Amino acid sequence: MKNISNRQACDKLIFALDAASYEEAMKWVELLSGHVGMFKVGKELFTALGPQIIKSIKARGQKVFLDLKFHDIPNTVARAAEAAVGLGVDMFNVHASGGSRMIQESVDAAFSCAGKLGKAKPVFLAVTVLTSLNDDDLAEIGFQGNTGELVVRLAKLAQKAGASGVVASPLDIALLRKSLGGDFIIVTPGIRGADEKAKDDQKRTLSAYEAVKEGADYIVVGRPIRKAEDPLAVCRQIVGEIEAGIAAR
Ligand code: C5P
Repeated sequence: MKNISNRQACDKLIFALDAASYEEAMKWVELLSGHVGMFKVGKELFTALGPQIIKSIKARGQKVFLDLKFHDIPNTVARAAEAAVGLGVDMFNVHASGGSRMIQESVDAAFSCAGKLGKAKPVFLAVTVLTSLNDDDLAEIGFQGNTGELVVRLAKLAQKAGASGVVASPLDIALLRKSLGGDFIIVTPGIRGADEKAKDDQKRTLSAYEAVKEGADYIVVGRPIRKAEDPLAVCRQIVGEIEAGIAAR
């Protein structure tokens, strides 16, 4: 049993800033600052708006998870990782299937760049298997084994190559926690209330309480907050679930 403060629980909640415009994105940043720990900027927003959106969020003193899932030759990903550190992002990710050398060179580049710039090391995450892929999709691509086996294999590879953690489906948390130990960071999207009927396009979901209890360090939540009549009330409820989840571990 472990208790954490409300502030520490807030820090574990990452808001998926999947907005259609700069103005809309910044409205959410204004509203949710202090109620969530980080804002996740994905491919859609970053491709449309570029680094300005990161700079604007950072200028308001907020943390950013840059979710661009880099996957390229080691040198290219290492330079992209340095660029992400230069922007001051607090967390970013690559695809674990880019291989050990890609991960290792990017971790080295990112962490030494942070040192040179006098910034804190960002959390370096690896994406194992996209939750949109099932066993048939893996077979089609030419991977052997099922998604569960591949998730653990890639997570171990990422851990050995120096990544700080992984992005994982809610249903893989328990297995990953067991195979990777307590210190490896697990970030989990696909969070929905246990009693929520509309799960959008998320199928394999857990509640914030369950995900944290199973061992998630951070949870990513978008639509349940964005579509709520009272987004702050939903944030507060999720933060309460995070506190309860930690206490129940
Ligand atoms: O709106 P919702 O809570 O489903 O948002 C979850 C966020 O996490 C989205 O930005 C989505 O792109 C992202 N994500 C996900 N599942 C993954 C990886 C990322 O839902 N496997």
